[in-house]
Amino acid sequence: MAQLWGGRFTKETDALVNDYNASIGFDKRFFEQDIRGSIAHVKMLGKQKILTKEEAAAIEEGLNGILRDVREGRLTITDDYEDIHSFNEAMLIERIGDTGKKLHTGRSRNDQVALDMRLYIRDELDNTAALLLKLLKRIEAIIEKHTETYMPGFTHMQKAQPVTLANHFGAYFEMFRRDRERLFSIRERMNVCPLGSGALAGTTYPLDREYTARLLKFDRASNNAMDGVSDRDYVVEFLNALSLVMMHLSRLSEEIITWNSNEYRFIELDDAYSTGSSIMPQKKNPDIPELVRGKTGRVYAAQASLLVTMKGLPLAYNKDMQEDKELTFDAIDTVKHSLTLMTGLLKTASFNKKRMAESATGGYINATDAADYLVRKGVPFRDAHGIIGSLVLTCIEKGVAMDDLPLTDYQAACPAFEEDIYDAISLKSCVVRRATKGAPGAMDEAIAENRRYLGLKEKV
Ligand code: ARG
Repeated sequence: MAQLWGGRFTKETDALVNDYNASIGFDKRFFEQDIRGSIAHVKMLGKQKILTKEEAAAIEEGLNGILRDVREGRLTITDDYEDIHSFNEAMLIERIGDTGKKLHTGRSRNDQVALDMRLYIRDELDNTAALLLKLLKRIEAIIEKHTETYMPGFTHMQKAQPVTLANHFGAYFEMFRRDRERLFSIRERMNVCPLGSGALAGTTYPLDREYTARLLKFDRASNNAMDGVSDRDYVVEFLNALSLVMMHLSRLSEEIITWNSNEYRFIELDDAYSTGSSIMPQKKNPDIPELVRGKTGRVYAAQASLLVTMKGLPLAYNKDMQEDKELTFDAIDTVKHSLTLMTGLLKTASFNKKRMAESATGGYINATDAADYLVRKGVPFRDAHGIIGSLVLTCIEKGVAMDDLPLTDYQAACPAFEEDIYDAISLKSCVVRRATKGAPGAMDEAIAENRRYLGLKEKV
């Protein structure tokens, strides 16, 4: 295996050691970030006259050539190198000769990998935020289409009060909006450049760390060299943010699975987003939301794993930190795939308005509204609650809904009841009357706010 070290060794590394130690199998993922970081580093070395202008230019050109060739498939990253840093440096030397050996001046793999990982996470954080935006737009379309799609709202999985599908999805809009904002606040905190921290104690060369930071679009250079090489807080924070995204996707998945069940039939998943059974021909299964729910565990695990890896590490760099990568990469892939699939699933699914309305009527979901009706007629709420409770019992005994109970029964329970009770407890007025901020009857306000957030034009 080609290595960047070996001068002080008299023996070859054991093959098993090489395998165990090498990270190229997974850190080749940030090949592009490694090249970007090296280009910024070498530009700075040139500006600071640590390398001559010609040397810096030759190295930069060489690195750009490697980037192009890998992108266009003329050069393949093989596992013959210890890590992506060794691969890039070896390629550079192969291509431009001895000048290439000057690239690593004033740098250690410790600050190099700290930089690469930060650049990579920053890119993926932006990608995740973009996918969240797409999902939010999809959810907003559902909200706007379904302000009059009535359905039961549940507490304890029991029908509680009538809501709309718009209001229900409005809740998910808030969750995913918070997820997106959480990513941006992590981005702000993590956007400092560790390059120039060296192995752990900076370097003797007159580096311009702020210049490198600016070239790589960081806000500033990191404050402390030991922290620069050994900080992985932002990875934990990112994994935590991804865990919350998965938690929200998983809760939504759980509802979709329930709504898609033969008992509910609130939602119909598109064939393209469903799967069949090898034995039961009639089956159309919601495998995708089930997998999203199932994969949530591995994303949580990535965060737990890194927290454990980091907890006992003395300053500064320790090889344990190489373990920050594989599970993080897996978590990023999982979240991105899950977000994309959920967006597609929601785009192609249809909602069964009739079934949802049926489910919201016929029960006693409007009992609170009947009590509120009495309160408007001057009956104290606690008394009204008792009266309606007894009426619900009458309905159960007679096997009718509140909507179908004769007025005589209402009036027998309380003389304040009049003919307008039926309108007051209709599904529509139950919803429209709930017009406090955030309630199903105040969705216009929520829609206007969501559109502002998404940068969409005001709805007319
Ligand atoms: N593959 C290593 C990692 O991911 C790169 C840094 C190696 N540094 C070292 N001193 N061995 O952490």
